[in-house]
Amino acid sequence: MSARIIDGFAIAQKIRGQTALEVSALKEKGIHPCLAVILVGENPASVSYVSAKKKALAEAGMADRSVNLPCGVNEAELLGIIADLNRDTSVHGILVQLPLPSHIDEQKVIAAIAPEKDVDGFHPVNAGKLLIGQTGFVPCTPYGVTVLLKEAGVPTDGAYAVVVGRSNIVGKPLALLLARKDINATVTLCHTGTKNLASFTRSADILVAAMGRPNSITADMIKPGAAVIDVGVNRISDNTKKSGFRLTGDVDFEAALDIAGFITPVPKGVGPMTIAMLLRNTLHAAQGSFK
Ligand code: GUN
Repeated sequence: MSARIIDGFAIAQKIRGQTALEVSALKEKGIHPCLAVILVGENPASVSYVSAKKKALAEAGMADRSVNLPCGVNEAELLGIIADLNRDTSVHGILVQLPLPSHIDEQKVIAAIAPEKDVDGFHPVNAGKLLIGQTGFVPCTPYGVTVLLKEAGVPTDGAYAVVVGRSNIVGKPLALLLARKDINATVTLCHTGTKNLASFTRSADILVAAMGRPNSITADMIKPGAAVIDVGVNRISDNTKKSGFRLTGDVDFEAALDIAGFITPVPKGVGPMTIAMLLRNTLHAAQGSFK
């Protein structure tokens, strides 16, 4: 048996196309969706993510307000910039690319963003809304995973889902989304402290790898026919590449292909969905959907 490969790139393109149409309609009403993208320092992965986000905004017909700050910027200065953007009615969304340098308190910065402009869905108000089932901004990567499952036709009702990784950005919000009534899975959240991880993953109908360690999910950890969603984006040195690295996920992809029923590749799996959902959240912010 060979798994069906879920083409995240194609699904993301479809969503981006729909979003661009809705952006045009909004612009005809005189609203030009705009996202402020704040980058602190020059972390190579962050620089590359931010440039991909800005390119996607332009392709969707949205404006971007770029704010590039030196690594040494102080916390008060950053908080002041966010306060200005909160007040600026021409800016609908605010995104601070993470991680931030260690002298800045990440949670304080996230909490400074107006919840109705928090298109990352990281603000405590939006995190709380997700927890209690109210409508708010949902973090882009977990949101994208749920859309991938739906678009690929993976059965979720009553399925057993195992999420490996408990980050605020992926694991925790994804566990909540999968347990919501519209998806209706039974969810276990595993992490680095889980004893006998394979005993959980081997029972999973839906297995999400979000631990950020290459090749952590091996073929023997996968239930035959399971949907395997690989959120990992790991840079591995590779001298044959111009960049000097290649991207690999958290799953041993080649081995998993023979066992899984569905699988997402890296790249072109979950990654493109994160950007597609960021555009959707920005559109919703401009529409004032979650005010
Ligand atoms: N760093 C890694 N993923 C993300 C994300 O989705 N949003 C932001 N702001 N930073 C990130």
